[in-house]
Amino acid sequence: KKNIKIFIDKPIIQYSIEAAKKSKIFNKIFVSTDKIMKLNPTERREICKGKTLAYLFYEPSTRTRLSFDSAIASVGGNSLGISDITSSSTQKGESLADTVRIMSIYSDVLVLRHTLDGSSRFAAEISEKPVINAGSGTEEHPTQAIQDLYTIKKEKKKIDGLKIGIVGDLKYGRTVYSLLHGLGNYDVDVRLISPESLRVRSDSIYEIKKKLDFTESTNIEEHIDELDVLYVTRIQKERFPDEEEYLKVKGSYVVGLDLLKQMKDDSIILHPLPRMDEISTDVDNTKHAKYFEQAEYGKHIRAALLGLILNENGF
Ligand code: CP
Repeated sequence: KKNIKIFIDKPIIQYSIEAAKKSKIFNKIFVSTDKIMKLNPTERREICKGKTLAYLFYEPSTRTRLSFDSAIASVGGNSLGISDITSSSTQKGESLADTVRIMSIYSDVLVLRHTLDGSSRFAAEISEKPVINAGSGTEEHPTQAIQDLYTIKKEKKKIDGLKIGIVGDLKYGRTVYSLLHGLGNYDVDVRLISPESLRVRSDSIYEIKKKLDFTESTNIEEHIDELDVLYVTRIQKERFPDEEEYLKVKGSYVVGLDLLKQMKDDSIILHPLPRMDEISTDVDNTKHAKYFEQAEYGKHIRAALLGLILNENGF
């Protein structure tokens, strides 16, 4: 069995390049993404011709699920899956283990989003087919981070040497953890900006500290004029155990045109989306806003990942 688990912290992709340095893996994915974007539709459809992707989403999604759907179609494959768990036999009490086992029979690769930390790792132990983590609780969202790093590289032409501010809900935002682990492979200056109660979790920060220099603060204005990249995240309302606590931090940061005036001319703003009120819509048409491009790159990096995962010798 070709066992592929995409985690940026632990094994990012366990297959032929498992032993390579992680940044080399990123580079391989980036090069493959560049390549796939240059192919014409007919060439692109040869890459995963006849392969089936199964998606299994226990939490809502727009971008991740649909970009995987669109990605597999663009490389000649097809998809099936469960996007609304209430319409599946989970509703009758079927376990995650059995659902994964069954879906892996019907497909060549499984894409899983689940409410629990460790869910993808667990699924990968059971599945006969590779499992891609599309979001596991508050833990990780690795393909989002690959997309984020790719966007930075495309828009800033480099990653090393950049000053990157990450603002918002750093406690519950799983994209942040994957991004921090990913950034640990580069020489970057990271500023973590959040309310005190939403700082990155202490259990995770221990691992992150081993490979990344960062500062923590609550004030975005202290950093804004120095940043090359401002990565904004939403407050993850659904993950708060207590709504009172959510209401205390709701609206803590709003990136609007006033803040943009303090930014470097060539700085960019990213956001994994969905956005609530943390970036004002009048920012969308400014040169700084790159979050829709970021979402578009997501389709291409996922197509490249599928091409790498489903082809023994790459493409
Ligand atoms: N960025 C992201 O994961 O978006 P979705 O929740 O819509 O998939």
